[in-house]
Amino acid sequence: MPPPEPEPAPTAPLTRWWRGAVVYQIYPRSYADANGDGIGDLRGICERLDHIQALGADAIWVSPVFRSPMADAGYDISDHCDIDPLFGTLADADHLIHEAHARGLRLLFDFVPNHTSDQHPWFVESRASRDNPRRDWYIWRDEPNNWRAALGAGSAWTWDELTGQYYLHLFLSQQPDLNWRHPPVVEAMHGVLRFWLDRGVDGFRIDVAHCTGKDACFADHPRCLAGEPLSSFNDHEHSHEVLRGIRRVVDAYADERVLVGEVNIRSTESVVRYYGIGDELHMSFNFPPLDAPWDPVVFRTCIREVERLMRAEHVWPTWVLSNHDNVRHRSRYGGSMRRARAAALLLLTLRGTPFIYQGEELGLEDAAVHPERRVDPGGRDGCRAPLPWRRAAPHGWAGAEPWLPFPPDAGALSVQAQEAEPDSMLQWYRALLRERRACAALRLGDWEELPGPPEVLAYRRRHGEDERVVCINFAAHALLVELPGAWRVRLATQPGREGRDYDGTVHEEQGLLLAPAGGAP
Ligand code: GLC
Repeated sequence: MPPPEPEPAPTAPLTRWWRGAVVYQIYPRSYADANGDGIGDLRGICERLDHIQALGADAIWVSPVFRSPMADAGYDISDHCDIDPLFGTLADADHLIHEAHARGLRLLFDFVPNHTSDQHPWFVESRASRDNPRRDWYIWRDEPNNWRAALGAGSAWTWDELTGQYYLHLFLSQQPDLNWRHPPVVEAMHGVLRFWLDRGVDGFRIDVAHCTGKDACFADHPRCLAGEPLSSFNDHEHSHEVLRGIRRVVDAYADERVLVGEVNIRSTESVVRYYGIGDELHMSFNFPPLDAPWDPVVFRTCIREVERLMRAEHVWPTWVLSNHDNVRHRSRYGGSMRRARAAALLLLTLRGTPFIYQGEELGLEDAAVHPERRVDPGGRDGCRAPLPWRRAAPHGWAGAEPWLPFPPDAGALSVQAQEAEPDSMLQWYRALLRERRACAALRLGDWEELPGPPEVLAYRRRHGEDERVVCINFAAHALLVELPGAWRVRLATQPGREGRDYDGTVHEEQGLLLAPAGGAP
């Protein structure tokens, strides 16, 4: 069989919606609560779609809302084809799909292929007896190897008293790993994809997409000996086969349904392989920038690496600075709002599809969560705090106290407060998204680094005649950055320079978006 066509070079005309899109991640527990139980829900999302529309995002990824005992906040699924009562009903999911589409927003659901909940009927059967027809749906062994689980869960193997074997779980013991080498599992999980595709979702974010394929010999791994969980580096050929199968399911549907994978290996070189030859992921997360401190050398290295490796393979990058698993980037940058503004400029002007994690458009920091209120066994509560909608407490969360405390400065950073404030972070994100939407160079253009002082990241985006330059000064003092030609400031992280000619200076920790001086004002 001839190999499928490779993805077109990024300079070719691009029609694929996801390449020009900005995706907004909703963490449903903390987005908006319609039923007043203190936990966000699907109706809450529907009621607050205006916020995403006003922001100017094109698509939404919703973290899991399926039936779950919530050992891992919904990433432990006990029924893939139903909604957990915490979040609502299937009818609410249908309504959300409909409402999002009515507003021109695409909707991606989370697909969790690596594991289910231990309460899933498949696992309940699998652990019932060794000769149960579903025994091989999960991974059972007589002897454990040295593989470590993530989320501080210790060994990746749990002993099952009843049947006298160990089962594998790369995450919590309540999240047994599915056996993707067993054809009925593949068929059943493809059925899950079709269930949601038939209901109209525009694609999926695939949870730990690099984990489904495992070493069939179960060899010990030296990195596990050193205490690292296998999920941080597992990178087996079989995961690619699993992804090719998933891609075939999705490609059978019209309207370009899309797969974006969480390949949670901190190596861009490995990440690139998960695009296959245009037959695996459409896009993959690439997390080195999400770990990066506020440091021009680290960012420059990450960006150059992406450009070098992804351009060579003609694959489309993504950019992510925050999500529900990591400390928010403003907190990571020492709490600095100024840096967070510059980071937003970076996120939204690099070549690739940006993902915004709910609340970063408000400049939120992680919440301080008292030990008694901790929920997540993986210690990730801080970035999962509820979104403050209104200035006055309880910030739009009428009813029971929210499941986690609010982030710092919730009133001043609320949507309501920032809507009234022309220079707020929210207005800054809106301006950036507006600019991006109107500018082919920013959405689809090529990327070229420009020379400058080492503390400044300067680059040009170009698409035909359309051009923009971005300068970001990481230093705490102003620097001269000479640019060829005449430029005008379109957007600046601090007010006062917009619409003026660029004078060759970038102020301390300032970011500038420049357009040719001869162009439209
Ligand atoms: C992914 C999710 C994370 C979850 C884990 C196990 O990394 O983003 O929240 O705990 O997978 O499903």
